[in-house]
Amino acid sequence: MDPSISALFSPKSIAVVGASRTPGKIGYEIMANILGYGYGGRLYPVNPTASEILGVKCYPKVSSIPGEVDMVVVSVPSKSVVEVIEDAGKVGAKVALVISSGFKEVGNASLEEEVVRKARSYGMRVLGPNIFGVVYTPSRLNASFGPRNVIPGGIAFITQSGALGIALMGMTIVEKIGVSSIVSVGNKADIEDADLLEYLAEDPNTKVILIYLEGVNDGRRFIKVASEVVTKKPIVVIKAGRTEVGAKAVASHTGSLAGNVIVYKVAFSQAGILQANDVEEAFDISRTLANIPPPTSERLVVVTNGGGAGVLVTDTLAEHGISLTTPPPPLAEQIRKLVPPFASLANPIDVTGMISNENYVNSLLLALNDPEVGAVLGVYCQTAVTDPTMIAGILISKIREVGGLSKPLALAFIGGEETYMAIRRLNDFGIPTFPTPERAAAAIASMYSYMRMRNNVMLRLKEVLNA
Ligand code: ACO
Repeated sequence: MDPSISALFSPKSIAVVGASRTPGKIGYEIMANILGYGYGGRLYPVNPTASEILGVKCYPKVSSIPGEVDMVVVSVPSKSVVEVIEDAGKVGAKVALVISSGFKEVGNASLEEEVVRKARSYGMRVLGPNIFGVVYTPSRLNASFGPRNVIPGGIAFITQSGALGIALMGMTIVEKIGVSSIVSVGNKADIEDADLLEYLAEDPNTKVILIYLEGVNDGRRFIKVASEVVTKKPIVVIKAGRTEVGAKAVASHTGSLAGNVIVYKVAFSQAGILQANDVEEAFDISRTLANIPPPTSERLVVVTNGGGAGVLVTDTLAEHGISLTTPPPPLAEQIRKLVPPFASLANPIDVTGMISNENYVNSLLLALNDPEVGAVLGVYCQTAVTDPTMIAGILISKIREVGGLSKPLALAFIGGEETYMAIRRLNDFGIPTFPTPERAAAAIASMYSYMRMRNNVMLRLKEVLNA
């Protein structure tokens, strides 16, 4: 494993060059986040005109720091970056996070190349430039100027966009989406997605890798590495620049080439990468894949208290290549005892709007316990005879009693204020729950898509090995 990439996620010591005394300046906010999020390693602010920042002793240069420095966060104007890299390189820093803008994205490619050349001459790797930083929750590292209290979890999020990345960081906090890591890659002058994928594939804290991608420098390497990574864990990509005008916008944003949309699509599906159409879908899929176990069989059962919502999920599942087969007869017989005589015991199983809170939950649990069922999608429409918060409470305590989920369960809770409270509670507990039937169906379908794509990739890799 490249020690520079390891240092990016778990540095033993960090120097912040351009650490500022002024709240609101980037060099101040990065310092405040590193301290405030609870980083336990050594931290050295570097600023020639300050004696201390946020109570931490300051140094005029990286080379005047008494101990070793693993990571250097560079937050000084672009014209000073080469000089900082030279100084940090001389004392053996492993990785530099160049926050500064003013490089290739504004046509200054030669300065960007010089930064990388200089760093490489000392064996140092560069993340950026034009980035907001890095978060790695297992190390309590938040070396960014994004929101501070990121929630630990299983999603590693790599983003080529800065402001959007920061905004989505905030969204993960509000939506209670747990992340292992957030990496802003910016102009990708040196470290790029493939380097990070190689590391994250082996990272036990990362269950799913989500990438906001505008373009890649080395497409062949990206696809080769990605197809190896998907045999271990899923990769979800939101590809920006899908249209001609979007591609032009990409060029002026990070200086990347957005490439041909069809070429990307084909390459992604061959590599087993899940493609999300938008930000919402990307996080829905990632949260689902990160939180629940894989399906134990092809057979997906839908349990709903609303016929219309059942039809909508059937449509969405069909659009994702999943056709519902009749439920196993023993399951239908058990559920029959809980529901009115006019209930439908096909798939979706429509337990009707008359079902009680307890029996809605019991129906879900019976489906989950059936050995032939591989995954369950629960669809709940709020009615006057049921209470979404009670359903959530009963379900959580029953699943807790049996030690957690042993097969996938995703839920759609559709309704008013109380359903949103229930959704938050269920997501907090780790059951992916969505406010619309389509989102829940697409999320559970992604598990099957991943399984199929991974199997195809593994078959192809086997063929290559045997050839
Ligand atoms: N070594 C150490 N300290 C230095 C050096 C140096 N070579 N040069 C300046 N400093 C100090 C300054 O004295 C200052 O400290 P003070 O505020 O206590 O006086 C501090 O470092 C910052 O230097 P400034 O010259 O004030 O620079 P400023 O903070 O205004 O800007 C920055 C620096 C943030 C890197 C800016 O040039 C820049 O590139 N901004 C854009 C960053 C960005 O948006 N990146 C992309 C993120 S993603 C997105 O789009 C959101």
